[in-house]
Amino acid sequence: MLVYSPPHPLIKHWLAILRSNFTPPPMFRSATAELGRLLIYEAMREFQPTVEQQVETPLGAIADATICDPDQPIKVVPILRAGLVLLEQAQQVLPFHQTYHVGYVRDPTTLKATAYLNKLPPVLSPTDLFLITDPMLATGGTIVQVIEDIVSRGARAENIRVVAVVVAPPALKKLADKFPGLKIYTAMIDEQVDERGYIVPGLGDAGDRAYG
Ligand code: PRP
Repeated sequence: MLVYSPPHPLIKHWLAILRSNFTPPPMFRSATAELGRLLIYEAMREFQPTVEQQVETPLGAIADATICDPDQPIKVVPILRAGLVLLEQAQQVLPFHQTYHVGYVRDPTTLKATAYLNKLPPVLSPTDLFLITDPMLATGGTIVQVIEDIVSRGARAENIRVVAVVVAPPALKKLADKFPGLKIYTAMIDEQVDERGYIVPGLGDAGDRAYG
């Protein structure tokens, strides 16, 4: 399994804004969306299918052109609530995509995640390409269930990329054990998950901070 944290000053900047306890909800949402845009850009490297074409320029010249393949849209899966904010700028970086919303909520005591929304189609293809967005992978219970949902419908874990703001060791261990071909793009690997299931130092509860 690959976990990639791009060493980029803009990614570090927006992460710092998200970590701060004094960042108000509108700024929290815009910083999350900006981080999503930057991380999705990285996650599409050597993943987004392309086709070769030729285009005519304003000079009447013919230029070779590489474009994203309209016949292979990326299947984007935001995990509600906060995964939706990470996707806000995706239209600008993903020319062709389809969105399948899923909603999960963790029980505050058991930390077990339960689905309350699932818009995935019943059957998927092994060639489908997936991008899952969720700001936090803490115990890993939520993301494992979502990937299992996708794989059980016929897709391959090797064709899934996950974009998250912060990830923690328990989630990474679970994911590496179950899906060794997975690739994760994140702003930071944090140190631990506390007894309440919060990543430390983390961001707090991203859903609450984004939506109140
Ligand atoms: C948070 C977060 C992840 C999940 C991570 O969502 O956005 O989806 O918890 O926890 P896990 O790795 O331990 O499963 P939450 O359940 O708080 O829902 P919300 O986004 O609606 O606030």
